[in-house]
Amino acid sequence: MSTNFTTRGGRERAIISRHNAYATPFESVTVQFCKITIKQGAAALTSQRGEFGSRFGFIMAAAGSAVGLGNIWGFPTQAASNGGAAFVVVYLLLAFLLAYPVLMAELTLGRHAHGNMIAALAKVSRNGTQRGIGTLMGIVGIFTASLILSFYAIVSGWMIGFGAAYPLDALGATETATWLSEFGLSRNLMLMLIFMTLTMAVVAGGVEKGIERWSKRLMPALIVTLILLSLYVMTLEGAGKGLAVYLVPDLSKLWSTELVFNAMGAAFFSLSLGVGTMLIYGSYVSDEEHLPSLGVQVALVDVGIAVLAGFLILPAMYVAAERGVMIFNEAGGLLSEDTLIFVVLPALFDSMNETGTVLALAFFGLMSIAALTSSISMLEVPVSFLVERFQWGRLRAAFIATAIITAMSAAIVMNFDTLFGLVITVSTRYSQPLLGLALCVYAGWVWRRDVLLKELAKNEEATASTFFMRWWPWYVRFVCPAIIVTILARSIA
Ligand code: PHE
Repeated sequence: MSTNFTTRGGRERAIISRHNAYATPFESVTVQFCKITIKQGAAALTSQRGEFGSRFGFIMAAAGSAVGLGNIWGFPTQAASNGGAAFVVVYLLLAFLLAYPVLMAELTLGRHAHGNMIAALAKVSRNGTQRGIGTLMGIVGIFTASLILSFYAIVSGWMIGFGAAYPLDALGATETATWLSEFGLSRNLMLMLIFMTLTMAVVAGGVEKGIERWSKRLMPALIVTLILLSLYVMTLEGAGKGLAVYLVPDLSKLWSTELVFNAMGAAFFSLSLGVGTMLIYGSYVSDEEHLPSLGVQVALVDVGIAVLAGFLILPAMYVAAERGVMIFNEAGGLLSEDTLIFVVLPALFDSMNETGTVLALAFFGLMSIAALTSSISMLEVPVSFLVERFQWGRLRAAFIATAIITAMSAAIVMNFDTLFGLVITVSTRYSQPLLGLALCVYAGWVWRRDVLLKELAKNEEATASTFFMRWWPWYVRFVCPAIIVTILARSIA
């Protein structure tokens, strides 16, 4: 008497009739309701972990993480002071021969565990010691990601400050514009806070609705702006000289330890390696995707944008020189790092009146976007850990992680001279390569080879005979650790 007003499957009908041969319509609705609730509960459990909605979304998010201040600022200036094209060649070699295999270690470990770095290293461990060391490495990774974000947010804040200063100045708000572009405690704190708030807002939105959505919007904007800016700068007087410095290699510098060490640091930093960023992004990739080709695309976008940025920054410097701006330091080398971005380029923009305002807005907007798509991936590292380990809601996890990192960042702002450089050196020059080494050891030695191959072969495109499947496990086991150890040892010696 109860079953004729709803349609349902045979199994459920059998259950209802077994338990309740004389169920009333009301009771049958209750059963139906319970079933829906249970189903929703199960769905909520499986989808509690975010997942990227599309391949394009993943590539934009991972490339967004990779493409950051490191590419647009770090890479071109390092190229300029390390032998131009010589550095570019070494960097490209390291990016594909070292950084890409390590990137693959992170992506594969992450997708295998569908969890954060601690969970992933524990999952592939075969005994207690390995699990213990893996946990320690995961914690160091989370700490390093937070440390990187704490200095990154300060610099990114400056980008926002400069970006706002130009239009404000043009509108007559000179005082505010000056405050925004001059080094100072309150200004540094406030801009950092704004940037951290933006980062938190995106991450709190979740993987698909926050990280993926914003990366899909911002990355195309970044690429178009970068291309337009470099095309324009290329038409200006003096650009050719900068191009020559960038493209003609100073071979005497090739293979100097310093150059190779710098290129390795740059490649690791640029591909966001070691700290579990790519690992957690990999954990949000669906099992249907072919990881090796996703990894190649991310690496290509990253390297491509670094090289493209060189076509903007170096010509821009020589255009500035043509207009009387000082671009060399006392030792005769090119000005680099903060002086380049916050003195040389602004002087160039100032010499161009209205055009300069538009260019400045585009340039600092570009830098802010690049920074934001990277900072969200850094924040995702502690946030995903808090969500997975303590079952916190995303909002709460994002808020608390942001609060802690903001406090660290404020400590750096307040002790700028002692802490700023130190934090950068510790986190990017030593911690990142060391953690990268640990990831290679876990992927290459600890992880059982057959399980690893199965993970790679989840997608049918990846048959055991592909070049990647044959070489990579061996490569990540012997070659990557050897390269990292050699470069680290030589630079310490
Ligand atoms: N890849 C980013 C850049 O080039 C920096 C980064 C490092 C991002 C580590 C995430 C993790 O600026």
